[in-house]
Amino acid sequence: MALVIVTGGSTGIGAATVRKFAAEGFDVAFLDTNVRDGKTLASESHWGSLLFLETDVSSKSAVEKAVNAAVEKFGPPVALFANAGVHRPTSIFELSEEDVNFHIDVNLKGVLYSVAAVAGFMREAKSGSIVLMSSDQAFVGKPGCLVYGATKGAVAQMTKGLSVEFSPYGVRVNAVCPATVRTPLTERVFQQVAEADFDGDLDAAWAAEAKAHPIGRVAEPSEIAEVVFFLSQNSSAFMTGALVPVDGGLTAQ
Ligand SMILES: NC(=O)c1ccc[n+]([C@@H]2O[C@H](COP(=O)([O-])OP(=O)(O)OC[C@H]3O[C@@H](n4cnc5c(N)ncnc54)[C@H](O)[C@@H]3O)[C@@H](O)[C@H]2O)c1
Repeated sequence: MALVIVTGGSTGIGAATVRKFAAEGFDVAFLDTNVRDGKTLASESHWGSLLFLETDVSSKSAVEKAVNAAVEKFGPPVALFANAGVHRPTSIFELSEEDVNFHIDVNLKGVLYSVAAVAGFMREAKSGSIVLMSSDQAFVGKPGCLVYGATKGAVAQMTKGLSVEFSPYGVRVNAVCPATVRTPLTERVFQQVAEADFDGDLDAAWAAEAKAHPIGRVAEPSEIAEVVFFLSQNSSAFMTGALVPVDGGLTAQ
């Protein structure tokens, strides 16, 4: 068995990825602030073991502590999925410092701290795969998403910088860039969209979002997990520094 670390694994895309790796026989340690869903997921039984570690990824020392605890239990990590993220509507016309810090602390610092916590182990092992969670918003702008989009663009750039820095050590770094996926995060966002633009009709808001994707629907979390899994395996051995759209054609338009 080999250790995989997933941040933001309690729900949504992270939880689907935790299940995918565990079903494939990996031991998975997942770091999240959501204790209720984290504990429920950790109680599931899969081929590989699951370890939930209550951790706020915006704290460097907390992430280090959690990763070290996972390594103590399972050995050095072979893969990291730095996925934890937050999103709330922002606009340049009503910009608060709190909104800026909220996004940067988790979506940017959280990714840096997560990578830093596994970096030494992977350098020593001279192997490893890191997948960062970016977004379609690395390529396109969306209304109400100014600060969120800025953090995801930064993660895309980080993917390139890290891939160059890690390549001499046999460690690959890629990013997934999903368009809309139905998760607790987007359920909250589309509740607000429905209230603002669709007279509170949530189904109509989701239907309009589906139409924005050439493929005619939004994604399921497991469809992103499959790509993350592929990027962490030897079948993608010549890929590093790649920003991989998983977006039903949204950014092809
Ligand atoms: N859902 C989409 O349409 C979509 C599209 C592109 C990118 N993303 C990105 O995918 C990632 C996962 O989002 P999701 O849609 O599955 O939503 P989600 O809310 O289900 O998952 C995010 C997880 O991150 C955790 N988290 C939040 N702040 C944290 C912190 N400080 N420390 C540790 N964990 C924390 C949450 O508790 C949650 O479990 C995010 O980075 C998001 O920006 C989502």
